Amino acid sequence: MALLEIENLTVEFEMAHGMFRAVDGVSLSVEAGEVLAIVGESGSGKSVAMLAVMGLLPWTAKITADRMLFEGRDIQAISANERRQLIGKDIAMIFQEPVASLNPCFTVGFQIEEVLRIHMNLDRKARRARAIELFNLVGLPDPAERLHHFPHQMSGGQCQRVMIAMAIACHPKLLIADEPTTALDVTIQKQILDLLMGLQAETGMGLIIITHDMGVVAETADRVIVQYKGRKMEEADVLTLFEAPKNAYTRALLSALPENAKGGRLTTVSDFMAGAAAGESA
Ligand SMILES: Nc1ncnc2c1ncn2[C@@H]1O[C@H](COP(=O)(O)OP(=O)(O)OP(=O)(O)O)[C@@H](O)[C@H]1O
Ligand SMILES: [Mg+2]
Repeated sequence: MALLEIENLTVEFEMAHGMFRAVDGVSLSVEAGEVLAIVGESGSGKSVAMLAVMGLLPWTAKITADRMLFEGRDIQAISANERRQLIGKDIAMIFQEPVASLNPCFTVGFQIEEVLRIHMNLDRKARRARAIELFNLVGLPDPAERLHHFPHQMSGGQCQRVMIAMAIACHPKLLIADEPTTALDVTIQKQILDLLMGLQAETGMGLIIITHDMGVVAETADRVIVQYKGRKMEEADVLTLFEAPKNAYTRALLSALPENAKGGRLTTVSDFMAGAAAGESA
């Protein structure tokens, strides 16, 4: 049984001028122990699709799906209470905007200990110890000291690492990582990716990584979904995708990689779109 199975997910937002379709009939599934990468340009509905799974979209979002199952359970039909138990515990997400995702009114220590209080059966002392252990794991310097800091006292990269610590705190079965390394510099990026992949290998959790970075895809993913304007353009295992991409948009994404630069000039996705508009693509 797949860990997560989604069929024909559509998300529309009610706008002043009518409905806007951000996700248009996307289907995907992830097995335990598998790493699925979702790539695609900005605005292609990657985050919205995953926030729909988490039940975290605003009320203006109209979500429909033929199937949305977690371990065979219909997550569209569960009660708010059951959802609260599932989200943050069995399904956790590293949000794309770490600073905005943390509560500015509480210390980061309070926030991570709160996650541990709600979902894990730990006393106050054990929660504190686990929080320090997690901050250590994600490479935050002076973890014990750090617990007393508010989000505004930390850099974007540090907030991102707090988010990551919170997401992995309760041993999720499925971790959705939305651009988990974007705000980090290269050395920390590698450290965080190694951490995520290590955890994934160790715990057998399923991992969905949303990224713009085809290098990250190559390094982490078993399978890849390429999304464009809310639609799934292509899905393939990672080797097939890099070696024999079927879709013109996927080829454009790959040709935008520095190592594929032709004559010293990168073909960009905008070049591709310009070509497509002129009817000369594919
Ligand atoms: N709450 C909202 N109300 C209206 N439109 C929204 C809302 N949230 C997202 N959108 C729109 O939905 C589309 C998809 O957004 P989404 O954040 O999923 O893109 P993305 O693929 O994650 O992009 P990026 O790579 O920049 O993170 C965008 O056009 C965005 O403006
Ligand atoms: Mg996004």
